[in-house]
Amino acid sequence: MAEWVKSGWRNKPRIQMPEYTDEDALKAVEAQLASYPPLVFAGEARRLKEKLGAAARGEAFLLQGGDCAESFEQFSADAIRDTFKVMLQMAMVLTYGAKVPVVKVGRMAGQFAKPRSAPTETVDGIELPSYRGDIINELDFTPESRIPDPRKMLQAYTQAAATLNLLRAFSTGGYADVHQVHAWTLGFTEGEKATKYRDMANRISDALEFMKSAGVNSGNSAALRTVDFYTSHESLLLEYEEALTRLDSTSGNWLAGSGHMIWIGDRTRQPDGAHVEFCRGVLNPIGLKCGPSMTSEDLKVLMNKLNPENEAGRLTLIARFGAGKVSEHLPRLIKTVQEEGANVLWVCDPMHGNTIKSSSGYKTRPFESVLREVREFFAVHKAEGTIPGGVHFEMTGQDVTECTGGVRAVTEGDLSARYHTACDPRLNASQSLELAFLVAEELSDLRNARQAQAV
Ligand code: PEP
Ligand code: CO
Repeated sequence: MAEWVKSGWRNKPRIQMPEYTDEDALKAVEAQLASYPPLVFAGEARRLKEKLGAAARGEAFLLQGGDCAESFEQFSADAIRDTFKVMLQMAMVLTYGAKVPVVKVGRMAGQFAKPRSAPTETVDGIELPSYRGDIINELDFTPESRIPDPRKMLQAYTQAAATLNLLRAFSTGGYADVHQVHAWTLGFTEGEKATKYRDMANRISDALEFMKSAGVNSGNSAALRTVDFYTSHESLLLEYEEALTRLDSTSGNWLAGSGHMIWIGDRTRQPDGAHVEFCRGVLNPIGLKCGPSMTSEDLKVLMNKLNPENEAGRLTLIARFGAGKVSEHLPRLIKTVQEEGANVLWVCDPMHGNTIKSSSGYKTRPFESVLREVREFFAVHKAEGTIPGGVHFEMTGQDVTECTGGVRAVTEGDLSARYHTACDPRLNASQSLELAFLVAEELSDLRNARQAQAV
């Protein structure tokens, strides 16, 4: 394998990245970021890698979720708290279903840069460069807003640092107490339409009661009082990623200091491209989005490049084919993984293959399609005897109306009420929790089926 340097991506073909016009401003920003502290530490990334390795063996389950694109304008303590809170609720329900620890990873504290399906956007006959995320340009539809400005990287860094600071505080400061998290979930299941989830919630209550009477409570058990919460984002804007890359003195390896886990998007996974070149050299766990166009040949090359040592937890394959297409694509890629003897974690992203335009013009995702893709993902793994190791959602703790469906049904007509995403439509708090209940059922069924087989 060729030597790796953190700037090596600059010699490779790059796509989906801005052409900055002000070279001096760009260089100044890169120098400044390079002098700042990293946001995460190597030991944390290594610990996450171990946990993802456990998920790949079926001894843990990954829950990855958060905004499609974090936004400067919607940055607030409440928004961070609410997404964190729903993720903890989901994790608890999933833990109950899977009977293994749930590894919690936010699409947070760095998820700012977006690949786009077209380089320009036309509105009322006016064509402008596409919006590429707040770290690059602005959503407003004016020529000035769409000019990429490198200084936005500094604001993104500051926001990521403040977000991570709050997440760390919530994780250990009492907010994540298991009893509190469960009380919130009970509140959800009391709703008249969520009664079908109440049974599982009641069983969780019983389990907590039992532990309490056996003397295990949040007063004496840190495991019930605190959580480990990790951050992740798409490694798209490589000037930002390179500037935050640091040498880990313990191992002599390089760390992407921008977040614990980074992933390569479905549009930027060319085996000889800039994004793969950057990611192959850092020690963090790496995600790789796999859409319908992923060939077995490319997957082989990518697995070898991104995980040459076949290390457990290093590589997560994030399947995002779309409802109705999983059985066409997942089995052939599972076969490739098996032929290579590759150690990977399979995760389902049921969002990115299920985006449609509603009759009212809003981009949306029907809850039914999201759920269907998850079910298909589980069914294929069940048939293949392989491990469905996690889920990846675009979601928010806010009460938005961006995806249709769910028990508190959002209709196409409702979409305009609270449609706040800066990019793709997200599940709201209620839809996210509902999905967790449904995934927990799948996990529980799979467990029962495998136990029955083992007997
Ligand atoms: C995303 O995760 O927001 C994204 C753009 O995904 P994909 O690369 O799978 O399209
Ligand atoms: Co998205």
